Order: sequence, then C-alpha cells, then structure tokens
Amino acid sequence: MKNIVILISGRGSNMQAIVDAQIAGANICAVIANRPDAAGLAWAAERGIATAVLDHKLYAGREAFDAALTTLIDGYAPDLIVLAGFMRILTASFVNHYAGRLINIHPSLLPAYTGLHTHERALADGVKIAGCTVHFVTAELDHGPIILQAALAVLDDDTVASLSSRMLEQEHLIYPQAVRWFVEDRLKLINGRVHVDSPAPAAVLIAPPVL
Ligand code: GAR
Repeated sequence: MKNIVILISGRGSNMQAIVDAQIAGANICAVIANRPDAAGLAWAAERGIATAVLDHKLYAGREAFDAALTTLIDGYAPDLIVLAGFMRILTASFVNHYAGRLINIHPSLLPAYTGLHTHERALADGVKIAGCTVHFVTAELDHGPIILQAALAVLDDDTVASLSSRMLEQEHLIYPQAVRWFVEDRLKLINGRVHVDSPAPAAVLIAPPVL
C-alpha cells in the first residue's frame, strides 16, 4: 500500500479523478489545501478523507510556509505527494525533500507554456495541438521529468473556456494513470527521463482526430 497526500488550492477536480479511480494499492491519506475556501476540501471530507488547511497568508514567507507544509505532510508518512492544482511556487528545499515522490499536472505540453494562462497563450499563438502533462517536480517551475502527456487538436472556434474544459477531461484520464503507474512501481527515472516498465502502455495519448 502506498500512502498518498494530495495538495490542492481550489476545486480539486483532478484530486476527485484520482480518488474516484480507486487505484489498487493507493491509500489517499490526506488532502491539504493552502486556501481555506478550496472547494475540493468539502468533497474529500464527505468521502471520509482527512483534510487540512495550511493558509499560506499566515506565514512570513515561502521558506516558513514550505517548512510547515513539510511537517504536516510528513505526518502522513507519504510515499507520493500529488500536486493537483496546487498554485504555489515551491522552494528548492521542499522540492528536494520530496525528490522522486512529488508529481504535478500542468495544462500544457511541457516544456511549452510553463506558468499561468497556458490556454490563453496557446490560443494567442495559434497552436494546432495543445495538451497537458504529468511530471515529476524539480526546483525549476513546471519542469521535471515527464511521465505522461495527452494532446488535443485545437479547434478554430476554441475559447479558453472550451479548450480548458476539453483539456480537463484529458487531465482526468492521465493523472490517475500516472498515479497508478507510480503505485505499481512502474516508473523508472533514468538520466532524468521517465521510463514506464512493461507491458509498455502508450506514453502519449492523442485524442481522437476531429477531421
Ligand atoms: C488544472 O487544469 C491543472 O492542470 C492546473 O490547475 C487546474 C486545477 O484544476 N494546474 C496548474 O496550472 C499548475 N501549474 P482542479 O483544481 O480542478 O484540479
């Protein structure tokens, strides 16, 4: 059994997808938010999952907040920490403490469009393919070894709302899959790249073509 702590900042739909996937061998021990109003907290609590709030506004700076967060997380003896819409820049000491057991989902085909407003920027650039990425977290924001990506064709009439809504469906497929692979010990980090043990599944999911 692998202990998993999920960190959220808002609605927590990716957290819900991971919980709902009922991954064999995964013990979701806690959902922690940095915002007291994070909607996902109530959803988790209703399902009997331990929840906690660590309000970043109450801390003097990133180091102090991340130190308190580390203490809180480590109380659950986690094998894996899952960032699910956790909208905080993390300190290097936090990231290094969880090296190899801290994963994130980002709504772009990394290394493109790190940071915020990914769909807005991709649409402004006129990209024809957009995507989302699950990756191990390293100290550099939205970087780190890629575990799984999904790609979608961008439609001529796509808006930020329509693209993010279709992308969220893909996120909800690939994030539980990546967690499943971790729990099954199928992810191997070799020279900074992720290899998935056999039987090798498709590492990249391309949504059905729209043509
Ligand atoms: C998701 O789209 C996720 O990819 C994104 O925030 C959203 C959270 O939604 N994460 C980032 O932008 C991280 N840089 P959720 O709270 O419903 O899972």
